[in-house]
Amino acid sequence: MNREAVIVTEELTKIYGGQTAVDRLNLNILEGEIFGFLGPNGAGKTTAILMLMGLTEPTNGRARVLGLDPARNPIQIKAKVGYLQENMGFYPDLTARQMLRFIAALNDIPTESADDRIDHALDAVGLAEEERKKIGAYSRGMRQRLGLAELLIKDSKIAFLDEPTLGLDPDATNRMISLIETLNRERRMTIMISSHLLPQIQRICHRVGIMIKGKMVAQGPMEKLAREKFGVGKETYTLEEIYMKYFQES
Ligand SMILES: Nc1ncnc2c1ncn2[C@@H]1O[C@H](COP(=O)(O)OP(=O)(O)O)[C@@H](O)[C@H]1O
Ligand SMILES: [Mg+2]
Repeated sequence: MNREAVIVTEELTKIYGGQTAVDRLNLNILEGEIFGFLGPNGAGKTTAILMLMGLTEPTNGRARVLGLDPARNPIQIKAKVGYLQENMGFYPDLTARQMLRFIAALNDIPTESADDRIDHALDAVGLAEEERKKIGAYSRGMRQRLGLAELLIKDSKIAFLDEPTLGLDPDATNRMISLIETLNRERRMTIMISSHLLPQIQRICHRVGIMIKGKMVAQGPMEKLAREKFGVGKETYTLEEIYMKYFQES
């Protein structure tokens, strides 16, 4: 099966005042993939995602998301592509339904069909019972799930999830991870997820990339990375072991 590459970068680079945050990044993420974007804090993951969303301009290189150049078409990108930021800025005085109605209106979804979609989205992310609560009273896990509901309302084909489980307790983390996997499986959503949760990433990702100091030092299916670092062996290595090996050698 020939799958289309929906996120492509060529030598994508961002320099902030003389410091290179993202250094000649080459990505080729296929439709329907979950791509784990790994690396220590400060590696350049968020900066790369911002360039892919058209929220900051590259210093050099090119990007294509769903065939569009994010730097030139930021509005189309925002309409088609979901983005879960590290800190989702929702309006605290709105309820989940009010918030999602607002999102639906912004995305030109007719009011008649919006409520149906909202019911479905709230149900899918497990917020149907809480829809009358104001978002200001939501836990962090609930806010992150509301972020996923927003992607369902927009029917995003691609989602950039930047540390979506940061600050969540273990139960909320597992819930979020299995929701992400469901979005991929049932909706065929292409997902690029940055996270430090290596066991969970190992479980759900088809391929991973390891960024260190702005450079992608390894990229591919986990078996390929393990082979590169440990040779062919009987043992299977965890993503954590693979990651640490690349990290120590960089
Ligand atoms: N707006 C900015 N201005 C200047 N430097 C920045 C800015 N944003 C990020 N950086 C720097 O770019 C590097 C990469 O940061 P970031 O993309 O946030 O990494 P990550 O998301 O992997 O933790 C860091 O050294 C950070 O300090
Ligand atoms: Mg970051």
